[in-house]
Amino acid sequence: MIELSGVSFSYPDGTKALSEINLVIDEGEFVVVCGPTGCGKSTLLMTVNGLIPHTVSGEYQGEARVAGRVVRDVSVAGLAAHVGTVFQNPEAQIFSLTCEDEIAFGLENLSLSPREIDKRINHVLHLLSLDSLRRRRTAELSGGEKQKLVIAATLAMGPRVLVLDEPLSDLDPEGKITVLNTIARLNREGMTIVMAEHNLDLVLQDATRMLVMEKGRVVFDGDPCSILARGQDQGPLLCCYYFHPGLSLYSSDPAKPISTDGCTKAEGYRTLQPKRGCRLIECPAGHYPSHC
Ligand SMILES: Nc1ncnc2c1ncn2[C@@H]1O[C@H](COP(=O)(O)OP(=O)(O)OP(=O)(O)O)[C@@H](O)[C@H]1O
Ligand SMILES: [Mg+2]
Repeated sequence: MIELSGVSFSYPDGTKALSEINLVIDEGEFVVVCGPTGCGKSTLLMTVNGLIPHTVSGEYQGEARVAGRVVRDVSVAGLAAHVGTVFQNPEAQIFSLTCEDEIAFGLENLSLSPREIDKRINHVLHLLSLDSLRRRRTAELSGGEKQKLVIAATLAMGPRVLVLDEPLSDLDPEGKITVLNTIARLNREGMTIVMAEHNLDLVLQDATRMLVMEKGRVVFDGDPCSILARGQDQGPLLCCYYFHPGLSLYSSDPAKPISTDGCTKAEGYRTLQPKRGCRLIECPAGHYPSHC
C-alpha cells in the first residue's frame, strides 16, 4: 500500500529531516510513528500524503509510492482520493458552519452529483456514529466530535490510507478515547492507518506496528510488544529517551517485571490494563530512574 525507497528530505535551511528511509506498509496495518520531538515524524507523513514534494519545498530524494502511484507524479488533490490526512488541531481543519456542509465541502470539489454527495455524507456520518450531528453547528461540537468530523470529511473522499499527525494531542481525555476508538475501528474494517502520536499509552493498544524514529531515521520497526520488550534489554531506553514524560512501556512477558534495570522500582509507576498479551507500565513524569 505504501512504499518508501531511499527517501531523504532536507528543508531549505539545510536541516536534514529524513535520511534514506526504506519502508513498506501493507494494506490494513495500523502503524504508529513515534520518537522525540524533531525526529522527523511529520516530515515522514508528508512524504506519504504528497505535501512533500508538492507543497513543502526542500531537497527530496528517493521515491514514495502509495496505492500503486508514485507520489511525485500525482498532485496532492489527486492523492486525496487515496490518502486522507488529519492533523493535530481540528479547529484549524474545519471551515463550514454545519457538519454536513463540512463533509460536502471537499466532495463538491470532486465534481460529484448532488445525489452521490448526499450518499457519501450519510455513509460517513453513520460510519463515525455522527448521524445525530448532521445539522449541528460545527462551533458547538466538543473537541473529540470536531476531530471525528474532520476524519469523516476526510473519509468521504474515499481514501484507503489515513495519515494522522498527532490527532489526539489537542483533545481532552474523553475526546482522545472517542477518536482513538474510531480510528481503531476503521482499521479493523480494513483502513490502513499511519499515525504519529505521543500518546503511546493509548495508541499502542491498537497499533499493529510501531516505528521509532531518531534523527530522521527509523531505528526500531516492528510489533509494539517486541520492540518495547527489546527496549527493556537495552535499559529503559524507550521509556526515558524516545518517549515523552508520562509515556509507557510494555513487557511482552506479563509475568516478568520490566524492572530488571530499576524502571518499575521507581516510585509512582503503575501497571495499566493488559492488552494484546502485553503489560503496559506508565512511567510518570519526573520519575525516571537515575541511569536514564
Ligand atoms: N519548515 C521547516 N523548515 C526547517 N526545518 C524544519 C521545518 N519543519 C521541520 N523542520 C525540522 O526538521 C526536523 C524534523 O521535523 P518534524 O517536524 O518532522 O519532527 P517531528 O518528529 O514531527 O517533531 P514533533 O514531535 O515536534 O512534531 C526537525 O529538526 C525540525 O526542526
Ligand atoms: Mg510533528
